[in-house]
Amino acid sequence: MGNVAIIGGTGLTSLADLEIIRREVVQTPYGEPSGALTHGVLCGKEIVFIARHGYGHTIPPHKINYRANLWALKHVGVERIIAIAAVGGIASDFPPKKLAIPDQIIDYTWSRKNTFFEEGLEEVVHVDFTFPYDESLRQILIQACQQAGVEYCDSGTYGATQGPRLESAAEINRYERDGCTMVGMTGMPEAVLARELGMAYATCAVSVNWAAGRSENLITMADIERCLKEGMDGIRAMFAKLVPLL
Ligand code: HPA
Repeated sequence: MGNVAIIGGTGLTSLADLEIIRREVVQTPYGEPSGALTHGVLCGKEIVFIARHGYGHTIPPHKINYRANLWALKHVGVERIIAIAAVGGIASDFPPKKLAIPDQIIDYTWSRKNTFFEEGLEEVVHVDFTFPYDESLRQILIQACQQAGVEYCDSGTYGATQGPRLESAAEINRYERDGCTMVGMTGMPEAVLARELGMAYATCAVSVNWAAGRSENLITMADIERCLKEGMDGIRAMFAKLVPLL
């Protein structure tokens, strides 16, 4: 059993290069995960894979059972998580198809189950979240991007929005003033739940569109899908270098 998990986002509901060993349905106290965990071998290393939106990409961001997903991964012994996330680029140096390894996060989501520490507590728990992403995993991701020769930003602030709608141009202006360089819908509470369970967590984001108001065009699903396809080529090239480093 590997101790590394990959959480696949939009555009990554399966890993083509993964030699599947078995699928494991995990029951959790928080309900059902997005799907069975897939145990397999990627580039010679055993890993666990789960598709955040379900294997058929049917679960929207605000309906994902983040607690069940994270609990299931912890339950099978996962210690380190690489999360893949499709995002909109806000910063001018983060155009579509480029990758980024964010180092900060701002949570704009609401009404999501965002903690394991809410019932049956002996005492109130506040986890430290100063640095939301694990720095050593981040450095490994950066090294993998470098070795793969893909375009990437080595830092950035991920603004986590509620979705499923995209943002207004004014909202993106506000997020930029806050310091966000990218915007996505699934970064939270995933990152904090991993922290609460003591698992190292880092994200590789792929820009699939300019955020609202950052280009002359409206955002279409067709454009997103095209960029996603090409962006995922970068992700796959990065994976080939990443896995041996893990
Ligand atoms: N906004 C929020 N989430 C996203 C976007 C976006 O523009 N693109 C991909 N995920």
